[in-house]
Amino acid sequence: MVRHFTFIIFVVLGFLQGCAPVEEKTEEMDKEEEKPVEKVDQHSFAIPEEAVMTFLDLYIEVDFSEKVIKGTAKITFENHSSNRLFLDTKGLFIESVKVGDREVKFTLHEEIPFMGSALEIEIDTFTNVVEVNYKTSADAPALQWLSAAQTSGKRHPFLFTQSQAILARSWVPCQDSPGIRFPYSATVTVPKNLMALMSAENPQEKNDSGIYHFKMSKPIPAYLLALAVGDIDFKSLGSRTGVYAEPSMLKKSADEFEDLEKMLTAAEKLYGPYKWGRYDLIVLPPSFPFGGMENPRLTFATPTIIAGDKSLTSLVAHELAHSWSGNLVTNATWDDFWLNEGFTVYFENRIMEEVYGKEIAKMLSLISYQDLQAEMEGMNYSEDTRLKLNLKGRDPDDGMTSIAYDKGYYFLKLIEETVGRENWDAFLNQYFSEKEFQAISTEDFLAYLKENLLDKHPGAEEKLKINKWVYSAGLPENCPVIQSDKFEKVEMEIVKFMDGEKARNLNTNKWTYQQWVHFIRKLSDSVSISQMSELDLAFHFTNTGNNEVLFEWLMLAVKKEYKPAYPKMEYFLKSVGRRKFIAPLYKAMAENPAQINLGKRIYKQAKSNYHFVAVNTIDTYFSEQ
Ligand code: BES
Ligand code: ZN
Repeated sequence: MVRHFTFIIFVVLGFLQGCAPVEEKTEEMDKEEEKPVEKVDQHSFAIPEEAVMTFLDLYIEVDFSEKVIKGTAKITFENHSSNRLFLDTKGLFIESVKVGDREVKFTLHEEIPFMGSALEIEIDTFTNVVEVNYKTSADAPALQWLSAAQTSGKRHPFLFTQSQAILARSWVPCQDSPGIRFPYSATVTVPKNLMALMSAENPQEKNDSGIYHFKMSKPIPAYLLALAVGDIDFKSLGSRTGVYAEPSMLKKSADEFEDLEKMLTAAEKLYGPYKWGRYDLIVLPPSFPFGGMENPRLTFATPTIIAGDKSLTSLVAHELAHSWSGNLVTNATWDDFWLNEGFTVYFENRIMEEVYGKEIAKMLSLISYQDLQAEMEGMNYSEDTRLKLNLKGRDPDDGMTSIAYDKGYYFLKLIEETVGRENWDAFLNQYFSEKEFQAISTEDFLAYLKENLLDKHPGAEEKLKINKWVYSAGLPENCPVIQSDKFEKVEMEIVKFMDGEKARNLNTNKWTYQQWVHFIRKLSDSVSISQMSELDLAFHFTNTGNNEVLFEWLMLAVKKEYKPAYPKMEYFLKSVGRRKFIAPLYKAMAENPAQINLGKRIYKQAKSNYHFVAVNTIDTYFSEQ
């Protein structure tokens, strides 16, 4: 007991002191459980070897006036004869903890930056259920409370959660580690005119009581706990698919995601049966900080992918793919994040190829390559450009760069090219089915890959240079090269334009949005303001309805100080909260002395619309000045 207490102090101090003592956790667990080192999650206070959650039963009320969630989390766990249970919390007020009718003692340990506070509950060695009565804080980072004015209908407030990576603990006391899975049920009370949805079996209509019951019968990690509450309607898209949105967004959303059922069928054809029953989407208000979030059974999506022509639905293919890579086979710790995202980008690309053809898939691969180059450079080829990360003592959000996505993708693409697509696909099918509902570390995956694929292909292992990809910074020289005729055409038109051809005479017939993105990215650094005006006049970039194209154009506008696009940029920054779009624009302004004040002014006015994770990123740009 005493030894254990010192041990937790070590863990706590470790985070305060740049972390050397955190290794204590690793070493102790190794000795006790012979668990591989790499599986120890440094971002959770849970000690699963002692007591590990097996079920969550949630009874909560959503209070819009106080901006809090309050209620009870009834936690069932497997107790390995321990007299204490550790849960993760962040900013939670713990009112009481009960075992049956009896209140038990608990300690809420000191708050550690970004980690939150360990909740240590005193139990008997045979206890296996506790009830935690709690309330969230008004600034819980997982929760974004929107006023009616911040919604598209303007009449009702809205709430959504974002639990990944380690924010679930700020709205549910739980063991918030990707290696710990549990099914859950929930009873959620909301204002009578609103609907509640979760990452679970969902209602398709509002009810009169404002009380909703949920069940997720498959075990999921805490980062996939999700809740959305608002004035929401549903429209079916196929036998297993549908879309939820605010009423004024529903028709547009349903039209945009018309191909959802087709994508689901394509995904199953590639990598085996979909294990979660239904697959629905919810289109959230524009302040949602991500493009999408793969909450099981109900992907959360940004409205910025509604372009009116289904051109941005690769994002849906991505979130759908997570139903296998991520939700079924899950990264063991946030250091293994590439196992979630790299596989998902690969799978997304295969779905896109299946549904929309090879050319589109190749263009997406090339955009991913460009993103990768830019990210590597921006990160100075630091250690964080390795696939296997070391986030010990840091906020896992720091490791969530496009390295995991794009370098991960190219590594898997290389394996595909090395062993042949047919063998690779067979391997992936087997991997997803044998490892379903399990947490996998990078090392687990590499061992499995060797045994089940590489050993059957002599020479493959040497060719891949696995250690370079996984454990070294930068991009290995054997990275696959993708060629796209459509992008080559774009490059030819750029040459013509730079040689003096009029913009309106360029051959841009039937270009896809990926071609436009490529066009803007590739415009030489020497493009002049007057050339930008000419392009804008011919192609209406400042007024495009495609947000990917708009974003590239606004980035160029900031770089070149092309002022005619500034009112649009300001409007965009004030109406959208998607971090991928807004953070680079602010960063570009912050880095240019001539524009930093503009950036600061807009940020000050827009900030209240942004989610915690976006603010957390953007604050760093302006505070360093
Ligand atoms: N799971 C991620 C979002 C995420 C990652 C949230 C890490 C919190 C921490 C999601 O699947 C994702 O990758 N979204 C991307 C879109 C995708 C098409 C690359 C996004 O939001 O931009
Ligand atoms: Zn993803």
